Amino acid sequence: MGIAEGFIDRLTQFLGPKGILTGPGDLEPYTVDWRKLFPGRAACVVRPASTKQVAEVVQICRENAVPIVPQGGNTSLAGGAVPDASGTQIVLSLARMAAIRSVDAIGLTMEVEAGCVLTNAQNAAAVEGRLLPVSLASEGSATIGGIVAANAGGVNVLRYGMTRNLVLGLEIVLPDGTIVNGLRHLRKNNAGYDWRQIFVGSEGTLGIVTAAVLRLLPRPKHSVVALLSVADPKSSLELLALAQEELGDQISAFELVSAASLNLVSKHSGLKVPVAAGEWFVLMEAASSLSGLKDGAEAMLGIAFEREIVLDGVIAESAGQASELWALREHVTECEAREGKSLKHDISVPLSAIPDFLRATGQALAAGFPEARVNAFGHLGDGNIHYNVLVDEGLSSEAITRIVHDTVASFGGSITAEHGIGQYRVRELARYSSPSEMALLSRLKHVLDPQGLLNPGKVLLR
Ligand code: MLT
Ligand code: ZN
Repeated sequence: MGIAEGFIDRLTQFLGPKGILTGPGDLEPYTVDWRKLFPGRAACVVRPASTKQVAEVVQICRENAVPIVPQGGNTSLAGGAVPDASGTQIVLSLARMAAIRSVDAIGLTMEVEAGCVLTNAQNAAAVEGRLLPVSLASEGSATIGGIVAANAGGVNVLRYGMTRNLVLGLEIVLPDGTIVNGLRHLRKNNAGYDWRQIFVGSEGTLGIVTAAVLRLLPRPKHSVVALLSVADPKSSLELLALAQEELGDQISAFELVSAASLNLVSKHSGLKVPVAAGEWFVLMEAASSLSGLKDGAEAMLGIAFEREIVLDGVIAESAGQASELWALREHVTECEAREGKSLKHDISVPLSAIPDFLRATGQALAAGFPEARVNAFGHLGDGNIHYNVLVDEGLSSEAITRIVHDTVASFGGSITAEHGIGQYRVRELARYSSPSEMALLSRLKHVLDPQGLLNPGKVLLR
């Protein structure tokens, strides 16, 4: 089915020239994801400047039965924010709605529009001495609407939870064009169903996030960052347990990176690894406003060396050095992309099962695909590993994913811990969920979006 005559004209008339893009060259940045794994086409890109305009665009699309793909920074790792190849969908970019409406340093909240880039929101909180703790490699492009719609994770989930835990209020445009204003700055609110949480993580399939109220925290005064090498994943779990015993919930990040991942980083970024090689590395950060954090961390590491849990390591001596250590972790995805195409597996299993999961998956892959190159790294503290496999010539993507996801299922895990389903994992979700779970998701979708116009083909097939 083509786009109804006059549809683009009506949008142009309503939004003005700044609010719509139609030239093929202008559309490209919006129609393909940054990894270039999901190229699509769009009838046009609309760039509304207010919630009212979003609602009006939704109405116009509804009248013309045109599907809408909401988009923030286009950093989805699951093809969640780009259109399909039909050319009959439109992209609705929230980029022009980027205002930080307020930062309440006493109430520890901020109200931000959907198109605000995460780094800008973090900085606005920092100016007031507050912390917006969502932190991801793509934070310089990812937007507030996108992280809410995707329920983004990142490196601080261990201490602060997923984005879901930080969303106090939301403003949503429903698929019928209704604006629902739930921008409350409340910590406690038990009035009725908690509808916010249905939209957090719904990946733009149930409604369009136009603004959010986020929870802030006091900004810790001190932090310690260390890069440590360990012999195996089991030792990294022992280290996590020890660190939590000794430093409590001051541990804010606990990342596991394989030697193979750091080799990719050295190869493509030239960054140097300042720790003697082990098979695995842990990058950990602790933060606190109380003094004595560094002494506590050093004492903890002393015990770890004594018990031979840690083989080698460095503690950053300055903020610059801390950033250098973090850069090694943050460059993994980019350097993986430079190495070539990869199959992304964003799995989680119960924390204590991580070593067995890594062993079982490694063995199964080695048996079926001895030449497969694994790039495993991730958020160990959350039981979340990005078990990515480089897809070299002649390897069957489907068979490899089947091995990884079947192993995940055998450990009672999830096929996506933080990246979401997008279009990448639609069939996988259906495969690994129970029929009753899938029926519940479909019913929810149908109630809110009976015409199936919001981000079709993401999360659910229809
Ligand atoms: C990360 O943790 O760096 C990203 O979520 C992972 C990825 O690229 O798979
Ligand atoms: Zn991640």
